[in-house]
Amino acid sequence: MSSEHLPNPASQPTHGRSSRLLRAFPNGSLRTGFCFCAVLFTCLIFYATFLSPDGSIWRRPSDWRLPQHESIRDIAALTRGFFSRDYSLGLGWNNMRYIIDAAVLQAELLNRTLVIPSFVYARACEYNLTVCADYATMVNKNDAIGWEEWRNLPYEQQMAFRIPISIMLDLPRLRQRYPVITASEYLRLHGQDPSSESSSGFWPREQYIARPNVFQSDKTKTPTQFIVENRWYDPRGTHRVDYIPQKMKNRGKWGRRPWLDIGGTVGYWPPEDPTEISNRLKNALPEGKFIMGWDTAKSALKVSGLGPEVDLDKDDVVENILNTNGWEVLRTFNDVTGMDYEKTIVNPISEVVHRSTIRGFKDDYYDVDADVVILAGETHLYRKPGAMRFTEEHSRAKYASMVVHSLGSPPKVTALAKVLAARMREMNGGRLWMGAHMRRGDFIRLGWVMEPSPEAHIRRVKDRLQAGRSVLARLSDLATYDVEGAEPDMEQLRLPPPLPNDKFLVATDERDPEALRVISEGGAIFLSDLLTIEDLRSFGWPLMITDVRALVEQALLVHSAYFYGHWMSSLAGVIINMRAARGADPRTTLLD
Ligand SMILES: *[C@@H]1O[C@H](CO)[C@@H](O)[C@H](O)[C@H]1NC(C)=O
Ligand SMILES: *[C@@H]1O[C@H](CO)[C@@H](O)[C@H](O)[C@H]1NC(C)=O
Repeated sequence: MSSEHLPNPASQPTHGRSSRLLRAFPNGSLRTGFCFCAVLFTCLIFYATFLSPDGSIWRRPSDWRLPQHESIRDIAALTRGFFSRDYSLGLGWNNMRYIIDAAVLQAELLNRTLVIPSFVYARACEYNLTVCADYATMVNKNDAIGWEEWRNLPYEQQMAFRIPISIMLDLPRLRQRYPVITASEYLRLHGQDPSSESSSGFWPREQYIARPNVFQSDKTKTPTQFIVENRWYDPRGTHRVDYIPQKMKNRGKWGRRPWLDIGGTVGYWPPEDPTEISNRLKNALPEGKFIMGWDTAKSALKVSGLGPEVDLDKDDVVENILNTNGWEVLRTFNDVTGMDYEKTIVNPISEVVHRSTIRGFKDDYYDVDADVVILAGETHLYRKPGAMRFTEEHSRAKYASMVVHSLGSPPKVTALAKVLAARMREMNGGRLWMGAHMRRGDFIRLGWVMEPSPEAHIRRVKDRLQAGRSVLARLSDLATYDVEGAEPDMEQLRLPPPLPNDKFLVATDERDPEALRVISEGGAIFLSDLLTIEDLRSFGWPLMITDVRALVEQALLVHSAYFYGHWMSSLAGVIINMRAARGADPRTTLLD
């Protein structure tokens, strides 16, 4: 082993606890000293009631099914410890959702209990701010998050409402499948005041490990913590994957260092002499990139003088040639825009990288035996769904399935959406109905909106939906997206297609009455047109919050027969994912 493969303790980060914790990094011999393993069984009074998640005021008891575990301690005891992140609570809900999707995956790979924030910030109130502030804690976002982004905006846009995360996410369903607790539960489990939860989503490095687990008999034994530094996650020229399969390790003679090296990885790929084919592939990489599309790699092989007996139309043949020449195929999802804003999981693709650029998340951090593992900073922007690529097709499929089947909106939201979808259909004589998302608000400020004037914007929407109408009229054989459990939704054929003057749903954050009038006169129906006073009363106060309405709009658009949305919007991405799970035909969706 050359010296560059050896750990370099002098250059390890000097963060308070890390050097001690790095030493705990084993070759297989794990310390099993998790606090919660040394539980005091006499503390049986510590029940789910005490540790009930936030939002219980809103949730009626019938909505709350206990996870199969009786207490938070029991959830955590199924795993090797806790995993959490620095969550960017300043982002809107759909971005937070994607971050949580990825965090569930990261925690699962490490067999750890995920800690998520117990609240998120909603950006707007449908009424005077003071009305929502009577129900949800109103904060100044700049102060709560510690950013200055909103400081110069009007007062209304500086304020936000702190709402329990369970209003936005079906936490009981998630917990039936994955060990997840909220930060306030984590704090209570460690004898800390839940109101001391970080307001920005950042994991306070010292404070959260200052007190022992309440079940810990040795009261001096505070949790150990390991920080996965952000710069270790996917430094330029490397590719973070879920795990490196044994076969791939064998192919590249992957070795495990006894310690994390300076770059935060335990693995190394010994240098290999490049073959001619490998050099050709390297030359085929797009400028400044370390990854190429499947077709690019295939074309490079086609001109590499392989004999006619090599059938490059067979994927396994191509993959085999790549593998024997030092390259590997990674699995991920295609995006509409090239920027991975929408994080849709409906179009699986393969990409090709040099083996030496691959770093496995599980391989690097599973064996860390600290009680708490934190992934520092942001891994959201410009990342693929899951914030990593997958080495095996079945793992990618499992992730896609998790996103659509385990991380949904609360039942209250989906139930209301179903009722409203039926109203849309009725309004249009029982025909299929179409919908669009018109993101305006902050997208106008950022210059991202499709058409700044409401007149032009609604014209554009109508134009796209007219095309959508012909798509629906022509549907005869149904297809589905490649998502687990997606069965063709037969309603697409059973109900008649829309007529030219049918009403269509527009989900929008536009609140200017004049703009709304223009859009409405174009034939649009808004959520507020569909909601009855009974709906509002039975749903309760969260429906006064614009972000919760957006969640209902999103769930409603999942039922639209044709959907047109903005290509940069994460809200539209969720709709596409959920429509895929519903069995909508891929031709019935348009983003531009
Ligand atoms: C996760 O860790 C727990 C506690 O060490 C162990 O009992 C369980 O079998 C592990 N699960 C998996 C899937 O490895
Ligand atoms: C909201 O209500 C407060 C208190 O009643 C009032 O002072 C304020 O002017 C109202 N704001 C708007 C925009 O109507």
